[in-house]
Amino acid sequence: MKKRIFSGIKPSGDLHLGNYLGAIKNWVKLQDEYDSIFCVVDMHAITVPQEPEMLRKRAIEIAKIYLACGIDPQKCSIFIQSHISEHAELAWILNTITKIPELEKMTQFKDKSAKNGRESASVGLFDYPVLMASDILLYNTQLVPVGEDQLQHIELARTLAKRFNKRFGDTFFAPEAYIQKEGMRIMALDNPNKKMSKSSQTENSYISLSDNADIVRRKVKKAVTDSGSEIVYSDEKLALKNLINIYSLLENKMPKEIEKTFTGKKYADFKTELAEVIIKFLQPFQKRMMDLSDNKVLKILEDGAKKTRPLAKKKLEEVKKKIGFVV
Ligand code: TYM
Repeated sequence: MKKRIFSGIKPSGDLHLGNYLGAIKNWVKLQDEYDSIFCVVDMHAITVPQEPEMLRKRAIEIAKIYLACGIDPQKCSIFIQSHISEHAELAWILNTITKIPELEKMTQFKDKSAKNGRESASVGLFDYPVLMASDILLYNTQLVPVGEDQLQHIELARTLAKRFNKRFGDTFFAPEAYIQKEGMRIMALDNPNKKMSKSSQTENSYISLSDNADIVRRKVKKAVTDSGSEIVYSDEKLALKNLINIYSLLENKMPKEIEKTFTGKKYADFKTELAEVIIKFLQPFQKRMMDLSDNKVLKILEDGAKKTRPLAKKKLEEVKKKIGFVV
């Protein structure tokens, strides 16, 4: 039996190179080896306000991004989270074994609720990690390929799995994160101490997967670099290290190899090349996106939900029996 992986992305903003390099690129690699489920997590997206028409459009777009990046619906299941209501039902049950301080300490909640003031943060935002645990535990997921920012959430999923098992008997698998070191935290182009983020206010901080060649060249040119001029991969030069990581992951070359290629060259030479490497990835990807019709994608999502729903139903029924619901 193949091991199972599960992951998802929120349709809540522009997807960027960090999402691709930290998550989707690994999914594409893992899909041959693992029984793979990839979700468009629209219920997570609404934990902060979304414009309804935009949310609908983005959910379909995220599925297109999965496909255009190389996720193969013949090998994997792709579906929209809200199409399988068992996610919400299990989240409710898991809420009852989650302690308030466990959610209060979540970095993502603290950061996001700080933005507009804690008084205006929704209960959904607070409860976000429990819904994520439900996504993962519903399918006996063994590995969760994500970027580093999700580690704390996966740790909670492990805790809840073990807590439930202890109280009600063996039911859930305690999942582990799958993280690839270089891509796990792609940093903002304008600040190497902040992660690249889709909720960023400054457009120059990230490369969107929909950026055209001119925009990519402009953003890479503007990216901050460190003092000095040598192309070296080092913790002393965090901004450059981040750019080398992007180059390295897109070209499948080791950072050392890249250092060698650019020996004696200047930051500007490296940046010019890096922009072309990004464009070389983005252009065929964007073409594949354009070739995907909404109808085709909706059919893939419907098939994905059909294939996945029975797994979710079976697990939820098992859970309901164990906790004493009349089923
Ligand atoms: P989301 O939508 O914020 O991000 C999607 C994925 O992109 C990764 N990522 C990054 N990786 C490297 N560098 C960056 N700068 C960067 N920014 C984002 C994220 O780590 C993530 O893997 N909570 C999840 C969605 C989710 C989920 C799940 C994931 C809901 N249920 C179950 C796994 C399993 C999230 O907010 O992702």
